[in-house]
Amino acid sequence: MKSKRLNEINSLAVIGAGKIGSAIIKAVRKCYSDLTIIATGRREKTLVQARELGAIATRDNNEAVKKSDFIVLSVKPYHFPVVLRQVERSAWRDKIILSVMAGVKLSTLREALNGAVVYRAMPNINALVGYSATAITADSNGEEYKGIVERLLSCMGTVYWVPEEILDVWTGLAGSGPAFLAEIIDALVLGAVAVGMPRDLAYNAILDVLEGTAKLLKNRRIHPVEMRDEVTTPAGTTIKGLMMLESEGVKAALMKTVEAASIRATEIGEKIDKAIQRELRKMGENPELMVR
Ligand SMILES: NC(=O)c1ccc[n+]([C@@H]2O[C@H](COP(=O)([O-])OP(=O)(O)OC[C@H]3O[C@@H](n4cnc5c(N)ncnc54)[C@H](OP(=O)(O)O)[C@@H]3O)[C@@H](O)[C@H]2O)c1
Repeated sequence: MKSKRLNEINSLAVIGAGKIGSAIIKAVRKCYSDLTIIATGRREKTLVQARELGAIATRDNNEAVKKSDFIVLSVKPYHFPVVLRQVERSAWRDKIILSVMAGVKLSTLREALNGAVVYRAMPNINALVGYSATAITADSNGEEYKGIVERLLSCMGTVYWVPEEILDVWTGLAGSGPAFLAEIIDALVLGAVAVGMPRDLAYNAILDVLEGTAKLLKNRRIHPVEMRDEVTTPAGTTIKGLMMLESEGVKAALMKTVEAASIRATEIGEKIDKAIQRELRKMGENPELMVR
């Protein structure tokens, strides 16, 4: 892996400084305080927020791409065709592009971003606190900048290189995972409230339990079922709770939850990919569609 250092990069552009784009700016700013970051958005509020995070904010995607050698694409996938129209095709050439857009395939990015070296990543919202679990995949010509992409994403948490075909299930598990866990936490808190515990106390308690359980499983590297069995006393409290989980089909529901989210990621990806392909064909036939 060739190691280009982040200080060899002149400027990082974040196209679409929304929730995940801002989290990336915040994390990178903390890691590399000297790096120039250009952020783009449409609304004034987005630009103000990006400035507050230490980025240069603009609505001009074309300038942002031209002035930067590393570009993060963090608009919603269905806004990507608009960005394509706003940026001169030649501006992408030789740039390092990291797309966090769900579903947009490497082959489509390669075709759309004329001559760029492209990577896809799937972070999650925990990037806001430096705890994203992020999967990355590189295009076939992406070996050269793997180190720099990994270092940048490491500012937001842990990174895992995966083949592209894993990204949809990663989206279903780790991309949507924080929302699923939030729902489970809420349910456990409500259970405690039902028996009389004050809500705040229950909430703080379960957050600590979650953090502690994750640490314990990580440190001991054991199967979760092993830990479960260790704390399940015959005729005790935990086995009664486990029986309830089982009779309500909670485990099966959670398995199906990840499966459903992954399948949806694939469906969205296919739809978006087709829309982008159509847009590229239109742009090829009518170059005046550029809306710059
Ligand atoms: N949220 C997550 O947890 C998460 C996790 C992994 C991946 N992702 C991916 O990250 C991407 C963004 O998601 P998000 O949740 O961060 O959405 P978001 O908060 O809506 O952010 C998207 C941003 O893109 C900006 N934008 C739209 N069109 C633009 C244009 N033509 N030029 C410049 N900026 C433009 C919007 O600006 P305005 O607000 O000014 O309109 C908005 O701030 C999606 O593709 C999603 O698949 C999200």
